[in-house]
Amino acid sequence: MRFARYFNALRYAPRGRRLEVARKIRGAVTKEPSNVAGGYCDIGEFKSFEQFEIKYRILAAELGCAGKIPPPGELDFLHAMVDLDDVRYPGGIGSRDYFFLTALVSILAPRRVVEIGTLTGFSAAIIAAAIHRQHGSSNGITVETIDARTHCSIDETRPIGFEIPELIPELASNVRVHTERESDFLRELGTRDKFGLAFIDADHRHPWPLLDVLRLAPHVQGGGWIVLHDIQLGTYGRKAEEAGETLEGGMPYGAEWLFDRWPFRKIRSFHIGAIELPERKGALVPFALNMVEEPFEVTGKAAKRIRRALYQSFAELI
Ligand SMILES: C[S@@+](CC[C@H](N)C(=O)[O-])C[C@H]1O[C@@H](n2cnc3c(N)ncnc32)[C@H](O)[C@@H]1O
Repeated sequence: MRFARYFNALRYAPRGRRLEVARKIRGAVTKEPSNVAGGYCDIGEFKSFEQFEIKYRILAAELGCAGKIPPPGELDFLHAMVDLDDVRYPGGIGSRDYFFLTALVSILAPRRVVEIGTLTGFSAAIIAAAIHRQHGSSNGITVETIDARTHCSIDETRPIGFEIPELIPELASNVRVHTERESDFLRELGTRDKFGLAFIDADHRHPWPLLDVLRLAPHVQGGGWIVLHDIQLGTYGRKAEEAGETLEGGMPYGAEWLFDRWPFRKIRSFHIGAIELPERKGALVPFALNMVEEPFEVTGKAAKRIRRALYQSFAELI
């Protein structure tokens, strides 16, 4: 391992465990193969209902569930969501994205999912409904969703997650909303290895998506999947700017770089994608060390805080 990396590991590892963590990081780098044959599949955009069924079958085969078809009520539910399109709140995922998310949850059938980035709760409701169609009426919490804010940026009068009881009244108690929290809150929840799937749709500036993945990884079962939203946002922003458009807000590359450089198995559907976690989470360390060297899109004091948090997250993986 390069000296600068070892030095950073010593510098940023949790106090009291610096030497131990730095040694483990060095061990993980030496032990893990640098070339991982991850496998990449692009299933294309889910443009319509006809495509939902076709792509569902392709995705099912790709995920080792050949022959699986959407359960009763799935298409009707999606129809009802699409009918809302004209009156939807801004900021939530669009239909092509929730078709993919629904298909993935439906095929993999996790019992519990964690989401980072709730906003109105639209995607959390989509996930909870898909879990319900697989497992019926279980009473427990099926979706934990975490947001840094208390109220929605798109309407400061509405609390985070307000749409959940509107969209899925009978399932709202299956979704637990955690506000003023970030992905490190999972440690407090004590949910190690409890989730079959995760969805990250929060701060897209590098290295936030990376940090979210590393913090989620101990809580998602080995071989589980993490869905990333906006995996082409940076490129979209650059092209729009080149075409002379003025865009509001940044168009960060964080999720895009993370997806593109992910060395393990991954599946893309236009600008949403899923990455598979390795069985041994320590295998993430060499990849993460490379990603930390990419220029941060988060700047100032926040960048320092995140750098430290990244090294601290390694300690949970090895
Ligand atoms: C794009 S919106 C989420 C949309 C939602 N997933 C949907 O499709 O309905 C992003 C949300 O992430 C939250 N957020 C931003 N940075 C965060 C962070 N570091 N941790 C947790 N939430 C964050 C914002 O407050 C915002 O509500």
